Amino acid sequence: MPMVIASAGDFREAARRRLPRFLFDYIDGAAYSEVTSRRNVEDLAGVALRQRVLNDVSAIDTGTTLFGQRWAMPVGLGPVGLSGMYARRGEVQAMRAASAAEIPLCLSTVSVCSLEEVAAAVAVPPWFQLYVIRDREFMKALLDRARALGCGALVFTVDMPVPGARYRDPHSGMSGPYAPLRRYAQALAHPRWALDVGVRGRPHTLGNLASVLGSGTGLEDFIGWLGRNFDPSVTWRDLGWIREHWDGPLIIKGILDPDDAAEAAALGADGIIVSNHGGRQLDGVVSSAVALPAIAERCGGALTVLADGGVRSGLDVVRMMALGAQGVMLGRAWAYALGARGGAGVSQLLQIIASEMRVAMALTGCTSVSDIGPHVLDRRKYQK
Ligand code: GLV
Repeated sequence: MPMVIASAGDFREAARRRLPRFLFDYIDGAAYSEVTSRRNVEDLAGVALRQRVLNDVSAIDTGTTLFGQRWAMPVGLGPVGLSGMYARRGEVQAMRAASAAEIPLCLSTVSVCSLEEVAAAVAVPPWFQLYVIRDREFMKALLDRARALGCGALVFTVDMPVPGARYRDPHSGMSGPYAPLRRYAQALAHPRWALDVGVRGRPHTLGNLASVLGSGTGLEDFIGWLGRNFDPSVTWRDLGWIREHWDGPLIIKGILDPDDAAEAAALGADGIIVSNHGGRQLDGVVSSAVALPAIAERCGGALTVLADGGVRSGLDVVRMMALGAQGVMLGRAWAYALGARGGAGVSQLLQIIASEMRVAMALTGCTSVSDIGPHVLDRRKYQK
């Protein structure tokens, strides 16, 4: 009997069963002891909302407008690297699911499918996520491609000047001794994945980087490319360079400190994503749920504040919004769904999240997303 799926947690378990270990652990894992990754989930789960009763909640509207785009709910699919390995042409499948749900997807620089392949699959192109790459000419070329395709926003990731220490990777075969052989053995032990992605999902190149990496490049190049090409010398001054080369909405991802949020606002960013990269970078830092309120209070009037980290349900979306976010990005939740059931899984996850959001809104007496805010927090319990 196929597994019953009722929640993001079920998708996680289904993905664990379906994917080779190196991929499941890449999605599920985080830096060092994975403390921050757990905190993201636990701190959000500890946020108590005020239950309000006897309001007319017969008509609930989850829609919102952010960066000039109408979203059916304040939820987007955040950038997740290598998604084309979780299901056949995975980024295209996820993009179609996001479009059908009328929400944005932000394509990772290190995606398998290129910007062009993903954009060709839908009417409204994806957002694009960019790292600080040493080669500014190449960065500019990527920005030109995103602009030519009409990408609705640029998400500039700033919390990865160097890759975090991920202990699972060498154990899982993502890196380490005999990595290709171990991955091959894992693929043979997961024949459904091997046929869907390993055989039918080719090519397994990094679509956006093919021109610099050359043809026939795969996972090895991903790891190597990250290490070689991230620019650890980058500073706020470089944001001016990006601003000059990108005139659409610019969103800075990886902000955890109110001073950095204020800096982003002063330099003309349109939005920020409060994020610790899913706990994949500096382990031990505070969760997004703990960081968010002070940042929203300081900068919420100057730019749009989004948040990610630990969001696994529609209730979590409402919690993040009560803490001050205007919108929320999903990471692992949609990667699990894609790995478990492809684009159909992502669509199902988004339906679950939308209906959970409506329930949370009804029980807190909110009929539109603009009703959700700090007054919805129950501070008798929530005292961070
Ligand atoms: C890439 O951004 C990663 O977290 O692995």
